[in-house]
Amino acid sequence: MTDCIVVTGGAGFIGSNFVLQWLQHEGGRVIVLDKLTYAGNPANLGAADTGRYELVCADIGNRSVVDALLAQHKPRAVLNFAAESHVDRSIHGPGEFIQTNVVATFSLLESVRAYWLSLPESEQQAFRFLHVSTDEVFGTLGPDDAAFSEATSYAPNSPYSASKAASDHLVRAWHHTYGLPVLTTNCSNNYGPLHFPEKLIPLMILNALEGKPLPVYGDGQQVRDWLYVEDHCTGIRRVLESGRVGETYNIGGCNEQKNIDVVLTVCALLDELSPRADGKAYSEQISYVKDRPGHDRRYAIDASRMQNELGWRPSETFATGLRKTVQWYLANPEWVANVKSGAYRDWVEKNYTERC
Ligand code: NAD
Ligand code: DAU
Repeated sequence: MTDCIVVTGGAGFIGSNFVLQWLQHEGGRVIVLDKLTYAGNPANLGAADTGRYELVCADIGNRSVVDALLAQHKPRAVLNFAAESHVDRSIHGPGEFIQTNVVATFSLLESVRAYWLSLPESEQQAFRFLHVSTDEVFGTLGPDDAAFSEATSYAPNSPYSASKAASDHLVRAWHHTYGLPVLTTNCSNNYGPLHFPEKLIPLMILNALEGKPLPVYGDGQQVRDWLYVEDHCTGIRRVLESGRVGETYNIGGCNEQKNIDVVLTVCALLDELSPRADGKAYSEQISYVKDRPGHDRRYAIDASRMQNELGWRPSETFATGLRKTVQWYLANPEWVANVKSGAYRDWVEKNYTERC
């Protein structure tokens, strides 16, 4: 093996933040394997050290390409961020979610297993496959329920979360049956720089600045547990370094927020950092729209295993992380213009016209 890692989905939101952080804090080479769907953007990796990273544009389900890539680079770890990730898109078109998150993940596991079996025994022991998953596999919580722990049963409710749950089960089985040294992380909602503006926080920032309505689904009382993306990335690095093989790790921000409160906080930050020309508050743009079908009411993560076993804690509060995020979007209009392609406009029309 070499001092190299393969990061699938490394041109997306969390994957690219991870690669940038890895290149800053860790040694060795990084091979990004990414299909470059609408959510994958090579510009996200613009600040990466080009001498130490390479972008390979391919599907994780392309067996011959992935086999050859692993044989060529001989990585010590494969980290799987690649997925279709947006719940609303999974409701409009679940097929892509089954294809990538289930079928292609199965193919990736088979490529990785064949590569792992080709290694000498000492290297087999050192190798890791880290699968990045979500808290949505646990379903929804009532207001007084305990937060999701690693022992919580799976109960996914959307096509997206069902497809992620299926991939988690495959990863678990590849460890249990074949001995593949796997690690799985289940994280709560991320936010921060490079977040594609189909998701709540970047959508609200950009719609507000463009004078558009701020579409809050249903009553806006749904709760999510928000974590700054760089804290998620440090958590993944800790799990890769010291996590127990075959275990799962819940990563979260201890930061439950109602959607309407998130939107109001974004509006207040924009009022301060980039006030409306007419002097009015951005919150006047809030518009309640038809709810997401099957909308999960509350997510919350119990991250005590991460804290107690691995000494991990988030370093940003929601106040500091959200301020950094809003400042990043204000400072990067070229990135915003670049991702808002024709395909993005088509999506916005499809998702929001039906809700009005
Ligand atoms: P994203 O949609 O921003 O990025 C996904 C990346 O995967 C893109 O670069 C895309 O091009 C690539 N990709 C998609 N299909 C592929 C395929 N078949 N082969 C190769 N590459 C492919 O997603 P994200 O928000 O960065 O999420 C990354 C991972 O983290 C996902 O597995 C997601 O389920 C998980 N996750 C996300 C969050 C969150 O809040 N965003 C929270 C917890 C877990
Ligand atoms: O919990 C982790 C998950 O968080 C990840 O696994 C997913 O990949 C990621 O997309 C995210 O899923 P959510 O559905 O929670 O995120 P989203 O940003 O789409 O929505 C957050 C909340 O805001 C949710 O309750 C729906 C609501 N919402 C979203 C949009 C896009 C709105 O009210 N209006 C909107 O326009």
